[in-house]
Amino acid sequence: MIKLSKFDNFLSDINEILNDYDIKSTGKDYPAKDIAETNLSESQKKEIVSLMRVNHSGEVAAQGLYIGHSIFEKNKENRRSLLHTASEEKNHLEWCEKRISELNGNTSILNPIWFLGSIAIGIISSKGKYNRSLGFIEETEKQVSEHLDNHLKKIPVEDKKTITILEKMKSEEEMHGLKANEQGAQEVSKQTKKIMELVSEIMKKTSYLI
Ligand SMILES: [Fe+2]
Ligand SMILES: [Fe+2]
Repeated sequence: MIKLSKFDNFLSDINEILNDYDIKSTGKDYPAKDIAETNLSESQKKEIVSLMRVNHSGEVAAQGLYIGHSIFEKNKENRRSLLHTASEEKNHLEWCEKRISELNGNTSILNPIWFLGSIAIGIISSKGKYNRSLGFIEETEKQVSEHLDNHLKKIPVEDKKTITILEKMKSEEEMHGLKANEQGAQEVSKQTKKIMELVSEIMKKTSYLI
């Protein structure tokens, strides 16, 4: 067997990481594909697009968070688990994007900031410890589920397409939180929860507008 030099090992590690971070969605079907479009007024469409733009940004941030948490995770299985959830978040991202385009809207121009910022938050909050990552993830998914509940109340009842998408996303976010809990999540401090709420509030307010 050929003995690899340290540099070769380093290159192969880099290659593996780059492959890992080419996040692909799990390819699940668009939940609203069999639901007919309803007649919505222009102002209703505008409001739904703004709400879905927020949700789309949330999914961009989710990608960043899961990637950030996985960067210094040495256990390959744990890393794979984090990146698998990132793939499911990518699905959500695609569904939001599709709904926004069906309503002729745009995604947020701030998304690169949410993506890079979330990678940084993921790295800092994990500190390379898996149970800390899981605790942060569990709290994030809980806050996201509550947020989606709130949005579900704001979507006009006749817009079955958007409602179906958000309900499906919410059920999967709850599963993500449960998965983190079952894997041994360490609860985050009250102060961290407050900071998380504040950051997500800033994201919601700004992505709603631009
Ligand atoms: Fe999601
Ligand atoms: Fe999630």
